Amino acid sequence: MLECAAVQESQDIVVHGRDGDCPVVVRPGALDALGALAAPRVRGRAAAVVADSNTGPLYAARAAASLEAAGFRAAVREVPAGEGSKNVARLQELWEFFHGAGVARGDLVVALGGGVVGDLAGFAAATWMRGVAVVQVPTSLLAFVDSSIGGKTAVDLPAGKNLAGAFHQPVAVVADPLLLRTLPPREFSQGMAEVVKYGCIRDAAFFAWLEGRAGAPFADADVSRIVAVCAAHKAAVVSADEREGGLRAVLNFGHTVGHALEKVLGYGTVAHGEAVAAGMVAAARIGEALGRTEAGTAARIAALLARLSLPTRLGDLAPGVDRGGLLAATMSDKKRAGDAVRFVLLDRVGACSSVPLRPDEIAPVLASLP
Ligand SMILES: NC(=O)c1ccc[n+]([C@@H]2O[C@H](COP(=O)([O-])OP(=O)(O)OC[C@H]3O[C@@H](n4cnc5c(N)ncnc54)[C@H](O)[C@@H]3O)[C@@H](O)[C@H]2O)c1
Ligand SMILES: [Zn+2]
Repeated sequence: MLECAAVQESQDIVVHGRDGDCPVVVRPGALDALGALAAPRVRGRAAAVVADSNTGPLYAARAAASLEAAGFRAAVREVPAGEGSKNVARLQELWEFFHGAGVARGDLVVALGGGVVGDLAGFAAATWMRGVAVVQVPTSLLAFVDSSIGGKTAVDLPAGKNLAGAFHQPVAVVADPLLLRTLPPREFSQGMAEVVKYGCIRDAAFFAWLEGRAGAPFADADVSRIVAVCAAHKAAVVSADEREGGLRAVLNFGHTVGHALEKVLGYGTVAHGEAVAAGMVAAARIGEALGRTEAGTAARIAALLARLSLPTRLGDLAPGVDRGGLLAATMSDKKRAGDAVRFVLLDRVGACSSVPLRPDEIAPVLASLP
């Protein structure tokens, strides 16, 4: 078996933030230690648990019991599952819930769910009484490896996604990989796109380990390893660049074309992870065409993604994707620099660089993508 050289799950994972350190505890059964892990990190003993209509029935009672056993008074609120809950109306509902639950400065909010609950409850905690502590308890694979770590919180507006938000570092991330047993397979695949991304940008040994494992269902031990390795990578990147000064941009690998695909095909029409999967292959092909990425890299990434049930071609997402529209959407990415757009390109699997690219460098590849 190939060993992942970069990070091991036994290592302590910590996000070093300007307001202090945030431990990321990855451990099977960690949900039942939530109260014990949170208690030393807050002064107060009121705890407001926010879940969604899927994660609440599955896990909120265990979260509350663990908090109560550690001396907290726990109250639970569910929001409807899905991106539609990441809005200002739900935010206000949560503020009112916090008020009813007696959450004051020094008390605790627990975000028990995927990225939607994490972003919504995280932003509610960031703004309630000018900021109360939040513990993120991720339940979707995307949340384990991405959204629960790093302190970005937000809600959507009709004008766009994540437009209102704040940086609010959690006091801890309590990551129990066994919670992923109930995650629907398509949601698991979505998260695997981000998992493959970490291998692409930072960890060739982990990428090779995934190649050896993909295709069959992952055992619990494999899932734990995946979560720990990726959480460690996210924590390392965020620690080096908490407020998105530059380095954190490597996390955008596959996302420039991915976001453009979401825009062109219509938000909600294509799943984020699926757009990112096709976007990573596109970025690798662009890099190869420009001689910046080792030849064969795109094919290798595509082969791994396909075995993880993820799309690799634009044609897998939708028939007849409009290439002109895709180029325009790619060039209007917010990571613009003059007439160029900043792209994360791979040097090879496991190493990347951020480079400005002009439309004429991207257009031929976008036009020829299958
Ligand atoms: N803050 C960040 O840094 C960051 C990073 C990436 C994405 N995001 C945000 O994350 C959101 C997407 O997150 P997501 O993909 O987790 O979506 P999500 O929170 O909607 O979860 C996906 C679905 O899976 C269900 N689910 C979650 N965990 C489950 C479990 N253990 N068992 C059964 N069902 C479960 C949810 O109820 C939901 O229906 C987007 O809003 C995105 O903007 C934030
Ligand atoms: Zn993403």
